[in-house]
Amino acid sequence: MTERGVVRVPGDKSISHRALILASLATGESRLAGILDSADVRSTAGILRNLGVDIPELSADFRLTGVGLRGLKPSSSILDAGNSGTTVRLMAGVTAACEFSSRFEGDASLSKRPMKRVSEPLQAMGARFEFANGDGLPMIVNGGVLKGITWNTRAASGQTKSAILLAGLVAGVRVSVIESRKSRDHTERMLKSLGVAVTTGDLTAAILPAVSLSPLDLTVPGDPSSAAYMVAIGILAHEGEVRIPDVCMNATRIGFIETVASMGAHVAVTSRRAIAGDDAATLIVRPSVLRNAKVGGDIIPAMIDELPLLACVAAAYGISLEVSDASELRVKESDRIATVVQNLRAIGVDAEERPDGFIIRPGHGKLRGVVKTEGDHRIAMSFGILASLAGNSIEIDDPDCVSVSYPRFWQDLERIRSDTA
Ligand code: S3P
Repeated sequence: MTERGVVRVPGDKSISHRALILASLATGESRLAGILDSADVRSTAGILRNLGVDIPELSADFRLTGVGLRGLKPSSSILDAGNSGTTVRLMAGVTAACEFSSRFEGDASLSKRPMKRVSEPLQAMGARFEFANGDGLPMIVNGGVLKGITWNTRAASGQTKSAILLAGLVAGVRVSVIESRKSRDHTERMLKSLGVAVTTGDLTAAILPAVSLSPLDLTVPGDPSSAAYMVAIGILAHEGEVRIPDVCMNATRIGFIETVASMGAHVAVTSRRAIAGDDAATLIVRPSVLRNAKVGGDIIPAMIDELPLLACVAAAYGISLEVSDASELRVKESDRIATVVQNLRAIGVDAEERPDGFIIRPGHGKLRGVVKTEGDHRIAMSFGILASLAGNSIEIDDPDCVSVSYPRFWQDLERIRSDTA
């Protein structure tokens, strides 16, 4: 029996992908506890299996023996990344340093997403890329002997930075990445915790050649992006308290919690502890009244995946919200500026698109209508929060798409809603 109001969110998706990749490249046996078992992470596991790593079925506590930094083998079949941008971009970095060709494919949504942000730096290092449609999937990576590089990324992208760092790791060359705004830094932290020489500054990350990679012994903390939905239920509730244990509190991931707190949300952070070079904590959330907000600038990358949720939270309170500097939302699993605004309008909210964000205007009244997710899990979950509120009547067209990041979402939502009703 789970305690009333307590919800343990699944393992962090970004860390889970990286844990599988690094454990596969390590020499020896890694132990991974609490890894996220979702469609996206299964895509990474599937591709690593195709490249010759013996990965057992994902489970809460499993072991995996790595093949070493240069031990991956060419795949006889295509590498299917499904819906997962992190899978294809990080594995493009890894395979760019392997002296064989790999063909990556993905679903309709992933096939539309830009790959130039990884192909450009990896080509500059010496790999060769082939595309049939612009810079979208299918993509063939012809790996080779790479040289070191210093690369300025244009967008703040944890995936791009990680692709370059992983290529440097596997190739055994020095790489350095400079960003305009700091993106999530799990790859750097995890590599450092495994003894790789990584140096980081405010906007830089560099890695020196490593001879081999030590195995991991890692407990994956809860995903702050998944926790954000449960935080939203807790602040929107009329009574009770929601407790979310062991949430990853990496500073590059907690922009949503910081933002709603600055808007008036009661979110207490307790029981802090260190996990794998990162911080984790328990969140205690109480019913709150939120104020209008404007969000932009350096905090955006730290809450990029939570902006659709923030929009829905603003709509739930009937407050105004202005989001800027978030044009990256246009190239996520859907064009999230368009999907957020169109769906808010479809249920009766006054919302407007901006090239780099959106504006939501105050309004009161019940929300009703059908939400078209475009198969985007974060759209389904964000509007799912609005759908769960008393008085609203909202249908989500594709609730099952949550399986890519939070398969238990609807069950957790229902239970925590009834615990706080
Ligand atoms: C991720 C980085 C972010 C994020 C995505 C996961 C990662 O994407 O939106 O959900 O694990 O590195 P970008 O690298 O495109 O910013």
